[in-house]
Amino acid sequence: MSSNYLEFFNLRDDPFRLTPDIDYFYNSPEHSTALLSLEYCFREKEGFCVITGEPGTGKTTVIRLFVEKWKEMAEIALIMTPRLSPEEFFLAVLEDFNIPLKSSSKNDLLKAFRDFLLVNAANDRRVGIIVDEAQQLPDVTLEELRLLSNLETGKEKLLQIILAGQPELERKLETRLLRQLNQRITVRAELKPLTMEETSDYITSRLLRAGGASQIISQKARETIFELSGGKPRRINLLSTRAMMSAFLEGAREVVPEHVKKGGAELALKESADYSATRKRVKKSGISSHGRLEKSPISYGWRVLLIFASVIAVGGLCYFFGYMRLSFF
Ligand SMILES: Nc1ncnc2c1ncn2[C@@H]1O[C@H](COP(=O)(O)OP(=O)(O)O)[C@@H](O)[C@H]1O
Ligand SMILES: [Mg+2]
Repeated sequence: MSSNYLEFFNLRDDPFRLTPDIDYFYNSPEHSTALLSLEYCFREKEGFCVITGEPGTGKTTVIRLFVEKWKEMAEIALIMTPRLSPEEFFLAVLEDFNIPLKSSSKNDLLKAFRDFLLVNAANDRRVGIIVDEAQQLPDVTLEELRLLSNLETGKEKLLQIILAGQPELERKLETRLLRQLNQRITVRAELKPLTMEETSDYITSRLLRAGGASQIISQKARETIFELSGGKPRRINLLSTRAMMSAFLEGAREVVPEHVKKGGAELALKESADYSATRKRVKKSGISSHGRLEKSPISYGWRVLLIFASVIAVGGLCYFFGYMRLSFF
């Protein structure tokens, strides 16, 4: 965003940046409950905790805030790209905890991990694994996580595991294969989109945090932002940025619904362009929209050869039957 834009609205920072910046945290009742659930999970040494929500509702932001709060009191491995096999996952966790990989035997590594857990438990330090975008974890890796969580003393769990993901994570956990893991989950939280009132408070809190005045975005404009975003913070940010830009270009000091609609239309256009660009890339690379490789079982050269052979065969047959008929009569 241009600095002119920020100057125009007297802002010292970009109020609606898309990074999950905890300095801009807005403590809505939903986000507060999610954060408290995570805290409960660590404080009470619960085994598994799951937090779900649609994309852009604030899962990563809540996790960031939680890690910031607990980083002095706990050892935390944060796995952000979980499409990993069980082995890769375990190694990533050990690496995050700085546990030296002295041996390549799984048993030795498990022993080293258990020792790490016991030392921390003796010092009353929590050890947690947090997986973001956990709906991407392969089933076998989720099962491995369950086995890791079996590491406990007679009295208490040595390891807390937090899974954050999109709603399909819950559906995944309900499948028969993951039944045992599902039964272990004691704390669940769901991040729902913000209400109209919360959306307005969220906008005010971001504008003020960036050094601006809350009047920059009018009440009516906020209502339009709420309608078009469905109360999802990521979309609120995108729409607010576009609307402010639109107002700036017109030299208007206050954002009104028209600016939001204009910004929304631009955004929809950009998203549909991104969508068709992705489709083109997908088509070009031969990958189907489900991510599978679409490859015809017969190559082009073979197809030509087959057609050629069929023509000769049909011609041959015609000739043969023509000959038979002639010799018959
Ligand atoms: N409670 C909140 N306070 C401030 N900003 C938030 C909050 N929740 C979400 N956001 C903002 O919305 C955007 C998306 O949030 P993110 O945590 O990445 O969502 P998710 O991980 O659910 O996809 C980010 O720009 C983030 O800063
Ligand atoms: Mg996220």
